[in-house]
Amino acid sequence: MSGFNAARSTGSTAREVVKVVHGMPTSDGAGVKLRRVIGQPGLSELDPFLMLDEFGTDAPADYIAGFPDHPHRGFETVTYMLDGRMRHRDNHGHEGVLVPGSVQWMTAGRGIVHSEMPEQQEGRMRGFQLWLNLPARDKMTEPRYQEFGPERIPVATPAAGVSVKVIAGEVGTVKGPISQPATDPTYLDIALSPGTEYVHTLPEQHSAFMYVFEGAVQAGTTTVNAGEMAVLGTGSEIRLRGAKESRAILVAGRPLQEPVARYGPFVMSTREQLIQAVEDFQNGKF
Ligand code: CO
Repeated sequence: MSGFNAARSTGSTAREVVKVVHGMPTSDGAGVKLRRVIGQPGLSELDPFLMLDEFGTDAPADYIAGFPDHPHRGFETVTYMLDGRMRHRDNHGHEGVLVPGSVQWMTAGRGIVHSEMPEQQEGRMRGFQLWLNLPARDKMTEPRYQEFGPERIPVATPAAGVSVKVIAGEVGTVKGPISQPATDPTYLDIALSPGTEYVHTLPEQHSAFMYVFEGAVQAGTTTVNAGEMAVLGTGSEIRLRGAKESRAILVAGRPLQEPVARYGPFVMSTREQLIQAVEDFQNGKF
């Protein structure tokens, strides 16, 4: 790139929405109804993000069957609960209940087998699960959990009418509890009152998206409605404005720019590693 760039000369470049993606209704686990936003024909991946599911329903029939035992290898799953309670249990003896506002950042690494089952018979179940890739060098790392209850997710109020839960990354001096040097992720839950603005600075080359789950948010010059994801172009900052009483997650991370070989719950770098993963799982080596 050459020539005069007015934005660059002030030291910042505005990110704009380059694509709006609609979630695709689907089901997973033992028949849980959800909306797949990343990992579907409209957006197969957004390096380093492999999948984003939004689950949200008041109907127990949509979630009651849960996600019985299934494996993962080679990446991280990030569950952010908004409403409802989900019990998590894995084959290494790790167990806990995800409550509203809690985050579970699970590094599957070399392999885990786990279940994620609703801990309720009725009422609303709502939240997100994001799959985040690991670099080739970390795919066979020991499994690890970073789990935080709602009281341990700090809240920043950068302006009147703007409230940000900082799961990963930073808002002013407020720092989220998650650590992942490989992808250096940002994960914010932003609430905006109508007409309020928030400008968030992001590393220029990080992949970034915003998913609106309540109301409508103007990102740059594009208005994004609830149920829509905006993929953001490169730049150093994104300007958000509440078009209504709104909530959105803003997520970003350093792209890995590595080959991705994926098969269901296994995400590796080569086909040979995928075959190995299936074999190891079948031989009980997770
Ligand atoms: Co899982």
